[in-house]
Amino acid sequence: MADKAREERKDEQQAMAMSAEKLRDLIRQLDIKVDPAQSKLEREEEEEKKAVHKFWSTQPVPKSSEQVTKDGPLHPPLAPEEIRQEPYDLPSGAMEWCVVDVESADEMKELYTLLIENYVEDADSMFRFNYSVEFLTWALMPPGYVPDWHVGVRDKETKQLIAFISGVPLDIMVRDKTMHMAEINFLCLHKDLRDQRMTPLLIKEVTRRIHHKGIFQAVYTVGKLLPKPVSTCRYFHRSLNPKKLMETGFSQKLSASDLAKLTTALRLPPTPSTPGLRLMRKGDVGQVRKLLNRFLKNRYEIVPVFKTDAEILHWLLPRDKVVWTYVVEDKDHPGRITDFFSFYSLPSTVLKRGTRGKDGVKKPASAGKPQPAYKSVNAAYLFYYGTKEDYEVTLTSSEKEACESAKKEKALVKSKKNDLIKERLQSLVADALVLARDASFDVFNCLDMMDNLMFTSKLKFGPGDGYLRYYLYNYRARPIESPKVGFVML
Ligand SMILES: CC(C)(COP(=O)(O)OP(=O)(O)OC[C@H]1O[C@@H](n2cnc3c(N)ncnc32)[C@H](O)[C@@H]1OP(=O)(O)O)[C@@H](O)C(=O)NCCC(=O)NCCS
Repeated sequence: MADKAREERKDEQQAMAMSAEKLRDLIRQLDIKVDPAQSKLEREEEEEKKAVHKFWSTQPVPKSSEQVTKDGPLHPPLAPEEIRQEPYDLPSGAMEWCVVDVESADEMKELYTLLIENYVEDADSMFRFNYSVEFLTWALMPPGYVPDWHVGVRDKETKQLIAFISGVPLDIMVRDKTMHMAEINFLCLHKDLRDQRMTPLLIKEVTRRIHHKGIFQAVYTVGKLLPKPVSTCRYFHRSLNPKKLMETGFSQKLSASDLAKLTTALRLPPTPSTPGLRLMRKGDVGQVRKLLNRFLKNRYEIVPVFKTDAEILHWLLPRDKVVWTYVVEDKDHPGRITDFFSFYSLPSTVLKRGTRGKDGVKKPASAGKPQPAYKSVNAAYLFYYGTKEDYEVTLTSSEKEACESAKKEKALVKSKKNDLIKERLQSLVADALVLARDASFDVFNCLDMMDNLMFTSKLKFGPGDGYLRYYLYNYRARPIESPKVGFVML
């Protein structure tokens, strides 16, 4: 024990001896790519100006060149006779539409297999999302889900599932307008079916089925740029296991001594620090719903609205290997919940061993090299959180004098309130990191949405090279800055 304590002290002294600049450099090296990201974004925007969208130009979405100045639907609800009755024709008689039955373990396994082999990869094909069956069941079966919106395509002869797209219903508030919408996710085509214009068919078919339920708006997120995002968010990553991230090529290659220093700099406390922190239980659902709805509505411009306890029970009650939610119980008022946070598990399969050079660019290993030592990177993603935001702040008389106007006073009160929220979120998310490390996650990810930029820098998250764009179907909305996005998509 004494030896261990001595070792730890030595590590700490070493870390403190590092110049702040060196430390910043090392932390920056955690980025997926150091910063070609900004230019990548600009390049995509340039290309988008010239792009021709054979499909999207026919859909109720704003044109890329359009400056949206007023929120509202592009078309009114359709009358039942305006909605196509029969499914769209598939391009070949060898394919057929199907519904993937989320209550069937066998069909969920088929969906899992389609996605694990064909779903989203990074640009260098080193990693691919690996959504577990349990996760997919969670994502596709919220209260009120519509079985018919889990749209699949099968090979008629072999019955193999070769394409999928899903919708689930939810209420979304965009600024002051709440709408019943569909959330579209898990669009996936088998690799052999790419570049054959199957995607427009899948989108049109799920839209047709959604229209039949009297819903005319949808929300979806895509990494790439299409017409026209309402918001663009950037990924941030906090390493929990720098050695593994480096060895898989997720983060940059370092010398042994730099890796040791980085590991020390990123070391987290042994236990969470917030008094009263515990796993969420069923009995907390009502309070968590109120806290979350209020927090989201008061702070952000696009948010889900959780109308029933059943939704909170579904989305936030801890589920083994899928979602973790912790609440803070007020010690002075037992049973009263003051804050909560949650994160979910989304591992990525390591497809090939690679390294990332000093420039931050990933270099996949060449053919014939040994298989990756690790099968997957275990990533936790920050989900929802809520905390008190109605602090009583009173200004001192000298602060009031310095303000000179009521407007400036109001701004000062707001900024002081934000400082309190910031401090609280920093300690809550620091605890989330400790809990995620203890649950064997290698990295903790979030977007620059919600109030996440209040803690990313302090808690040593680095910006990545990935972006997630938010889109609305049949709803024009003025652009929303990422810190005003309060809706997390899985
Ligand atoms: C995304 C995917 C289905 C697209 O397939 P594809 O073979 O490249 O595209 P298709 O030839 O079928 O269709 C092309 C049209 O679909 C659009 N499209 C492509 N990907 C899209 C997406 N993720 N969301 C919405 N539209 C998309 C294209 O913009 C194009 O329309 P346009 O001419 O109006 O611009 C396929 O690449 C895939 O399964 N990738 C892996 C999983 C994935 O990335 N899923 C999307 C997660 S958001």
